[in-house]
Order: sequence, then C-alpha cells, then structure tokens
Amino acid sequence: ATVVSTVAGAGLWLYTGADVSTVGKVDFRNELLIPPLEEGEVQPDGTRVFRLGIRAGETEFRPGQPTPTWGFTSPATAAADRWPGTYLGPTLRAERGEKVRVEVANRLDEPSTVHWHGMHLPAAMDGGPHQMVDAGGAWEPHWPVDQPAATLWYHPHPHGGTERHVQRGLAGMFLVDDAPARQLGLPDEYGVNDLPVVVQDVRFNGARFDHGHRFLRNTGFLGDETMVNGTLAPYREVRDELVRLRLLNASTARVYDFGLADDRAFDLVATDGGLLGAPHRTDRLPLSPGERAEILVRMAPGERTVLRSSPPGGGDFWQSRFSGGDDSFDVLELRAADTLRPAPDVPARLADVELPDPADASRERHFDLRMSGINGAPMAMDRIDATVERGATEVWTVRNRDGVTHNFHVHDVQFRVLAVDGEPPPPELRGRKDTVYVPSGREVKIALRFDGPPDPDVPYMYHCHLLSHEDGGMMGQFVVVEPGGAAGRVPGGSGGH
Ligand code: C2O
Ligand code: CU
Ligand code: CU
Repeated sequence: ATVVSTVAGAGLWLYTGADVSTVGKVDFRNELLIPPLEEGEVQPDGTRVFRLGIRAGETEFRPGQPTPTWGFTSPATAAADRWPGTYLGPTLRAERGEKVRVEVANRLDEPSTVHWHGMHLPAAMDGGPHQMVDAGGAWEPHWPVDQPAATLWYHPHPHGGTERHVQRGLAGMFLVDDAPARQLGLPDEYGVNDLPVVVQDVRFNGARFDHGHRFLRNTGFLGDETMVNGTLAPYREVRDELVRLRLLNASTARVYDFGLADDRAFDLVATDGGLLGAPHRTDRLPLSPGERAEILVRMAPGERTVLRSSPPGGGDFWQSRFSGGDDSFDVLELRAADTLRPAPDVPARLADVELPDPADASRERHFDLRMSGINGAPMAMDRIDATVERGATEVWTVRNRDGVTHNFHVHDVQFRVLAVDGEPPPPELRGRKDTVYVPSGREVKIALRFDGPPDPDVPYMYHCHLLSHEDGGMMGQFVVVEPGGAAGRVPGGSGGH
C-alpha cells in the first residue's frame, strides 16, 4: 500500500512511502502460541458454563518490550504455561445441541461487550452495542447451540469503540462441533494437527502499538507486519501429513489473500458457518476482516512451507490499491517433522450444507454501502432499520457505492451468496457465510433465513467489518418479530465512546 499519514487535525492525507512486504524477510524464530482450549464445565443440568474475564495488562511480543494490551482470561488461560492471558483469549468449544452459559466479568475500567460472531442466538445474548457490560460489571448470556460445526469467534462490540477494543487484543475463537463433522476423520487434535490461526496486522512504535497509521482512501488502520495468535514471526512444527488451519482474519481493516509460498494446492473445507458440501481444491483464498476459513494442507516429511498473503486480487488496482492491500506478508511457517503420521484422503463429501433457499424469499431489500452510512444514514442506537419476520427468507442486495473497500456482516444468521456482480459465486463463497467481501464497485446478492427467536425490542446488527467504518456509522439494526408483528422501542445510548 501507499503509506499515508494524516496531518493532525487537518484531515489531510499524504503519501509518504511504498508498498509493505515482509515476503522473504521474516526470520521465523518464535514458536506459534496456541490459545488454550477452554471447554468450560458442564453443570448437572447439562449446561456448559464458561468463565471469561476481560482484563488489561502487558504482553511481551518481543522480549523485554512490554506492550500495553487487553485480553480475555478463563480457567484454561490461567492454567496454561506459555499463554500470557493479556492478549486475545481462550478458544471456547461447545457441541451442537448443548446449552451454554458464559459468565463474563469486565475487569477493565471502561464498559465493553462480548459479541459471538457467527452464532445463531437470541438478540439479547448477542453481545452487540445494546448489551454493554459496565466497568467492573458482569453479564451472563446463555443460549442453546443450534448450528452446524464451525469456526466462530468472539470480540467486543461497543458502538464507536469496536476497533479500539479489538486492536488492544480482545478476540478469541469459539468452535462448534457436531457428530457428523467428527465422523469425517478430518484432523481434529487441537493445537496438534488442528491449528487456530488468528491473523492480525500490527505496527509497533518502540514497545507500544502504533495505531495511528491510516491508509489511502480511509480503509482504516493497516500494520506493517503480521502476528498469528499474538506471535510475531511464528513457526509451528507439524507431525502429521495433513494439518487443518482454522484461519480467522481478526485484523481491523486489512484484506488478505492467503496461499502457500510454493503455491501448492490446499483443500478449503469450511467457510464462516461450517463445512462446504465438498472440499474445494485451490491455491488462493481471499479473507476480509471477520471472515474464517478452514483449510487442509498436506506436508511431506522434513519440508517447510510458509502461509503467505499476496495482494488481494493479485494486485488488481480496484481491489487492492483502494484497500491499501498491495502489501504482501509471510505469515506463518509450517515445519514438518522427519516422520509424519499418515493421514487419509480428504473425504469427497463433507456435509449436507444448511443454506436458505431463495425460492422461499418473501422480501427483497437493498443495502448501499458508503463510509457515511448504509442506505444513506449513519447508525443510530434507537432506530430500527429493518423488521424481519421469524421464519422468513429474504434476499438482500449489497452494493459498494463508494471507492472504499468494504465487507458486509450480518449477526445471528449464516447466509447464502446467490450472486456476485450477477454471476454465480466462486466456490469459496458457496458455503455458509456471515461476512462477505464487497470491494469497490461490487454487488453481492445473498439469501438469509431468520429463524428467530423473535424479540421486537432488541436488535441485531449488520455492518461493514472494517472496524473504523463500523465505528464511524456503517452499521444498521434489524429486529426479528412474530409474523405480522412490529418493532418495539429500542433505547438509544452512546455505546462505548
Ligand atoms: Cu464480528 Cu458485529 O461483528
Ligand atoms: Cu457478528
Ligand atoms: Cu467499510
């Protein structure tokens, strides 16, 4: 990307440098940290209970250089040897069909929230800007896990403050399992052949994060190096022929285009909301902020390869220049042991994918994305932008109407991409999605099914997941009501300013 900086207060943008590339320059010297797996405790009534703290602290990403950060804690993070507990959070895991409850304790000295990104759950449990947890306060959301196996995640969502809270370190994965997925025999030993890969771009000024850098066309913060699971220059030893990487783009603005350094093919097996019907063999995978993907990489004994991000769209001007995304990164080195446990072939069929049927659609809506707001208005806490009926399927057309890179995320549902610029979606967009990349000029049509439960008084959000855009007002609210019902009255409130 062309490096730019603002003249303080003047709102002026200047170009001051050249593209960022860490390709070939990373000395992979730090063993990849793995977020502790937190399975909670199952109560006599079968409810799986997690305890999650939010705290401030310091993290030494580089030895001797303590960086002020925030992190999620839990019994598993407290018991782990190598996990700092002051950056990111544990990987929560639950099974489809279980009831879960999370005891959230906010030990920050400011309010925050915990949003369960990708989870189908009641609006009052969603952790959006209407479920603020006061400084020193507690919150106990609970819900039945009722969706297919998937890699979901959690992060704060205070209105106007999401970017800052995520940048300080508040993010973690939430894995949902189910029996059909387990029977596939995919690599599933957490931290061994099933690796969480939380990718973030960062920039340091001495020991501190430098979040001041804002890039061309108002994309938001873009860093000059990447971390995985809070580890700079990470490598991971692999003892299996086949390794599953659960990729999460937890960056606040950057779009990645992942591949392997030697351009070997890998199998994409899952997107945001779970498994694809069949594996998709590819060598490139774009991932915009908030999106997840599970890929299977086959390794030969003794070899090394690097997860790399090239400019999105291969340097295509309209996709990459406007996103500040002409940058390339060497993200994670995989080092295969000299002998590897053999792995079976990837199954040809993975799942019966639960997707909405556009033939059932009862309503169409249009969403025009601009930095100034969606459909012309910035987010307002006390305004409901869409009222949908429980059980309804709708078709939404999302258009990028300014020159800025955006994406589009909808809470509560996993949607189906019907078309991209009028064409059938590429294979990586044919599974369950909750976030979709919508670069400049693009139009994406999606089908969504709203299964409730209804709550006319508590909205869910839809928004751009480039977090400075979301904070700046690129967000709207919808409620799910009983058929024929009307939206209630939603309180205003300043959120997390
Ligand atoms: Cu990951 Cu509304 O967010
Ligand atoms: Cu979300
Ligand atoms: Cu945006």
